Amino acid sequence: MIIITGGAGFIGSNFVLDWLAQSDEPIINLDKLTYAGNLQNLSSISEDSRHIFVQGDIGDTQLISRLLNEHQPRAIINMAAESHVDRSIHGPEDFIQTNILGTFRLLESVRSYWFGLESGSRANFRFLHVSTDEVYGTLEKNDPAFTETHGYQPNSPYSASKASSDHLVRAYFHTYGIPVLTTNCSNNYGPFQFPEKLIPLMIANALAGKSLPVYGDGLQIRDWLYVTDHCRAIRRVLEAGIPGETYNIGGWNEKANIEIVQTICALLEEYRPGSNFQHLITYVKDRPGHDRRYAINAQKIERELNWKPAETFDTGIRKTVAWYLNHPQWIADIQTGAYRTWLEKNYHGRQ
Ligand code: NAD
Ligand code: TYD
Repeated sequence: MIIITGGAGFIGSNFVLDWLAQSDEPIINLDKLTYAGNLQNLSSISEDSRHIFVQGDIGDTQLISRLLNEHQPRAIINMAAESHVDRSIHGPEDFIQTNILGTFRLLESVRSYWFGLESGSRANFRFLHVSTDEVYGTLEKNDPAFTETHGYQPNSPYSASKASSDHLVRAYFHTYGIPVLTTNCSNNYGPFQFPEKLIPLMIANALAGKSLPVYGDGLQIRDWLYVTDHCRAIRRVLEAGIPGETYNIGGWNEKANIEIVQTICALLEEYRPGSNFQHLITYVKDRPGHDRRYAINAQKIERELNWKPAETFDTGIRKTVAWYLNHPQWIADIQTGAYRTWLEKNYHGRQ
């Protein structure tokens, strides 16, 4: 079996659902259930015995060591993190605790487990660390896209904390020989994304008739990847990636924020004939230290592991807008905080 951390978040829950759709290998899902963790995302597999949910912190060494020794996983995929740049600006402490110290403690638990394995299991074990393109810093308009050898120049407390965790993961390979893999992915979008991030926030606000806040001039560029393409890439890296290597993952979809917001409005207007959302677009004060452009060169993973995205931005954004339109209760439960009672409702009385 494998362990995933952060599997109740946006990418994690998509990954767990996708994993169980592709494979019969059980998956242990360790998640602290911060504000970003939502077990409703996994309600369709609440009866599936191949999914074992454990509420806990990646920094809880005792818990992690117990899980490792009890279940003897062949791999850990570390997705648990504080992930929102704006929150990291208002309060960096949680980012340092989880992304840096948490990853460190998780690596320590893995180190003692891994040293205790017999040589075959040791060689086959993988620690896959899911990271971001934001560690590379910002690009000017005409700069080439980030490759795996681009220097780390993080600019926000979020990206600095992810960069630190990437360095620790690298060090555990070089120092102790633990077979680690690191992936650096661009901005994801798709179902189950917490509506604090650009795309779901704009959809939720538009549907509520609220303004659509575009930071600064709205010309900042991100490289968008549909979340299930990211999940496929992670599965592929786990399967065939070379220990110690890093892999950039991206969608070859560079778009300015304002273009994204206008596209969302246009799609909502198409799905809801007669409506108008463009007038809700409002330019607001910029984010401090706002990175101007991210772009991923994803040639290495395509060349070496034969992965490339299946979705174009047009197909992915259509699916995404349709998903949010079809799941008003999911959005409402987050807005009212009701999703937080799901754990109690669903797991009360279970073993
Ligand atoms: P998310 O915020 O939606 O989910 C994070 C999950 O981690 C939540 O379920 C939360 O409860 C859990 N968590 C937080 N702290 C924890 C802790 N100390 N112990 C255990 N669980 C904890 O994030 P996401 O967007 O799904 O991102 C997942 C990973 O992918 C993160 O590592 C992030 O840095 C990385 N990433 C995200 C994107 C993106 O666009 N969303 C892009 C590239 C990389
Ligand atoms: P976000 O989804 O927070 O991802 P990240 O900052 O990690 O790239 O934001 C994506 C882009 O959208 C980023 O340039 C900031 C911008 N943005 C807005 O313009 N308005 C908003 O309300 C939010 C949340 C983001």
